[in-house]
Amino acid sequence: MSQKSHFTSVPDCWPGKALRETIEESRSFFQNKNVLVTGAFGFVGGHLARALHEAGAKVTALDKDTSSSRGSQLDLTSLRHEMKIVEADITDRRLIEKIVHDGRFHTIFHLAAGATVIEKAIQDPYGTIMANTMGFVNLAEAARLLPEEERPLVIYSSTDKVYGESETLPYTEDQNLGGVGVYDAAKLCADILAATYDKALGVKTIVLRMCNIFGPYDLNFNYRLIPKAMRNIFRDGESPELYMNSIEHFRDYLFVEDAVRAYLHIARCPGCHGRVYNLPGAHYSATPDVLRDLVQFIGDLQDEAPADSPLAHHKWNRSIRVVPSDPNLITISKQHLDGTRIWQEAGFEPKTNFRDGLQVTARFYLWYFSQIAPSTEPVIVAPPEPEIEGGFETILEDDGLPVQVLRPRILRGPKAAPMRPPAFVVAAPIE
Ligand SMILES: NC(=O)c1ccc[n+]([C@@H]2O[C@H](COP(=O)([O-])OP(=O)(O)OC[C@H]3O[C@@H](n4cnc5c(N)ncnc54)[C@H](O)[C@@H]3O)[C@@H](O)[C@H]2O)c1
Repeated sequence: MSQKSHFTSVPDCWPGKALRETIEESRSFFQNKNVLVTGAFGFVGGHLARALHEAGAKVTALDKDTSSSRGSQLDLTSLRHEMKIVEADITDRRLIEKIVHDGRFHTIFHLAAGATVIEKAIQDPYGTIMANTMGFVNLAEAARLLPEEERPLVIYSSTDKVYGESETLPYTEDQNLGGVGVYDAAKLCADILAATYDKALGVKTIVLRMCNIFGPYDLNFNYRLIPKAMRNIFRDGESPELYMNSIEHFRDYLFVEDAVRAYLHIARCPGCHGRVYNLPGAHYSATPDVLRDLVQFIGDLQDEAPADSPLAHHKWNRSIRVVPSDPNLITISKQHLDGTRIWQEAGFEPKTNFRDGLQVTARFYLWYFSQIAPSTEPVIVAPPEPEIEGGFETILEDDGLPVQVLRPRILRGPKAAPMRPPAFVVAAPIE
């Protein structure tokens, strides 16, 4: 039987209880207000545009790519026709000025970013800086050119990566910003300029420094940990991949509906104007542990699924593969945000725990890869897997160079299905 006929369950249980409550609380504020969401055909932007629409706002959804073929949330949930769709490049200053001036927006939620993962940013530094820094400037400048009473509030989606490598953890909003990677620095520049526009140029701004967001409809499969793992599992029947350089990383994780709740909280909080907020995770964890939890969790879901359900029949490899990473990437070992300020000033705290978020997320991808994933989508092919039983071993590569291979931890729960031999990692060549 083909995979397609196996999986038919509906993935969309949006919104969960917490987001539903926040939308209800926000309705009187947003009702009939014009709002602009940039990057609305992306992951977080799709959820946010949907929530704002649900709260009664008149949403303009802007993106560089609004084609239905990309399978964004706005198309998968037939919301495209409920909003004004504008295809525009955030780097096009004149066009952005016209859109902002014609739109009479109450609030601009700026989420568009040319590269939203560090691996892509390093491939096109100039384009990343133009989109991720100047994209914000174009919006803020357009707002500045309006009469003062007509200027929208501009909420800028920043990142915890602006803090960079730091001894001080969790990061607090007033500590030094040390992000130096291409993505990190491009976001950081806009983050600082948001304060400039607010303090010196009369445009109200709020900066939200977000941790790692996960959830349904994240179609950034090539680099992001959780979507990539879901594709490995549900499309390829494989084990999730862990980049070598992230073995010792720690990150915060937040379910996307909580991230949307944070935007709704700060947008309607007058005291938040001109402020910078961390958006902390509900879960702080080592990256390998996130994948371990994910493998165990999906394995458990599967073991508990009725024997005739599609999930019970899905075959995949319940282990983790460690794969080489780009040595040129600047990565931060620990990213951890303090959430005191957003709690005290905007009344926001995460409400969805990691496992509950993961459950909704896993069900979405199970459905996604069985129903609509384009079969022509480019795949990043993992290196071939030698079958190794030991711990550290030395093997010869094709070119005769000896390399160390490390046997990763095997995940074997009481209910785990039989596993293939463990995956491997190729470490540095031995001198
Ligand atoms: N997802 C996370 O974990 C996370 C964490 C911290 C910060 N952020 C920030 O939040 C924002 C949203 O992230 P996401 O995960 O939804 O990213 P995403 O990549 O899914 O969405 C970004 C959207 O921006 C659009 N875009 C790209 N270049 C553009 C341009 N020049 N003009 C107009 N649109 C353009 C893309 O088409 C895409 O739809 C980004 O600014 C990102 O830097 C995300």
